[in-house]
Amino acid sequence: MGAKPRIDTSRPHPARVYDYLLGGKDHYEVDRQLGEKIPEFMRNAAHENRAFMRRAVTWTANNGVTQFLDIGTGIPTAPNLHQVAQGVHPAARVVYADNDPIIMRHAEALLVGTPEGATNYVEADIREPGAILDHAREYLDFERPITLSLIAIMHFIVDAYDPYGVVSALMDALPSGSYLALTHVSLDGFAEEGAKLNETYTSSIEAQSRSVAEIERFFDGLELIEPGVVATPRWRTDTPVPPETGPHPNYAGVARKR
Ligand SMILES: C[S@@+](CC[C@H](N)C(=O)[O-])C[C@H]1O[C@@H](n2cnc3c(N)ncnc32)[C@H](O)[C@@H]1O
Repeated sequence: MGAKPRIDTSRPHPARVYDYLLGGKDHYEVDRQLGEKIPEFMRNAAHENRAFMRRAVTWTANNGVTQFLDIGTGIPTAPNLHQVAQGVHPAARVVYADNDPIIMRHAEALLVGTPEGATNYVEADIREPGAILDHAREYLDFERPITLSLIAIMHFIVDAYDPYGVVSALMDALPSGSYLALTHVSLDGFAEEGAKLNETYTSSIEAQSRSVAEIERFFDGLELIEPGVVATPRWRTDTPVPPETGPHPNYAGVARKR
């Protein structure tokens, strides 16, 4: 596995706080302290993300996609994306990327797929999309559709890093028939509670909530799949969802490149 990853336990990290929210064991005291400050309305978002990932990957796989590029993978959590994709297409190929060195410690869990498929992991930063694409080209066929999975990562890319340019650079490199699956935090409509969460979280971790319109902008130029950008648990769920009664802290969408 090479050199031991450098784990910084002096400040919270997004992957580890998220692991805390999911009830995992791969976080430190500093992550737990921040996780405990996250209010009730936000707590389900982590589980909802995982459920959306499963539905979006299954849906795009059922629509013929056999290759997946997942950026902002997080600490492995069963089922991982490759298990979902290979459940539909045993020969599916998956490239994972994340910039947190803790994921490398668990990368073996991401690298065990079906014998006929392939999984690969790279430590890389989405703010350098060219490097991720160069790596992915070694494992994926860029002549055939690829699902780009950006689940709960783009709110960590503040405007100063040109988040829309990053997503365009990635999608521009993919062939026609590829998909973008994305979720994103939105604290709009949560008034004081939202402002307080924003302040607590961003005092330790660089992040930016966006409005629904700003989240929709990530899909510009692509063909949004029904039902469009909606509260994450509402995207093509099999289980009945209660009527919408107010804002949701996390939105999701899937779109196809023409
Ligand atoms: C909230 S977790 C989401 C994990 C997984 N996608 C899911 O939804 O279950 C966000 C992940 O994005 C990663 N991340 C944050 N900023 C990143 C960046 N600039 N480049 C690559 N990964 C990043 C974090 O390390 C973390 O693992």
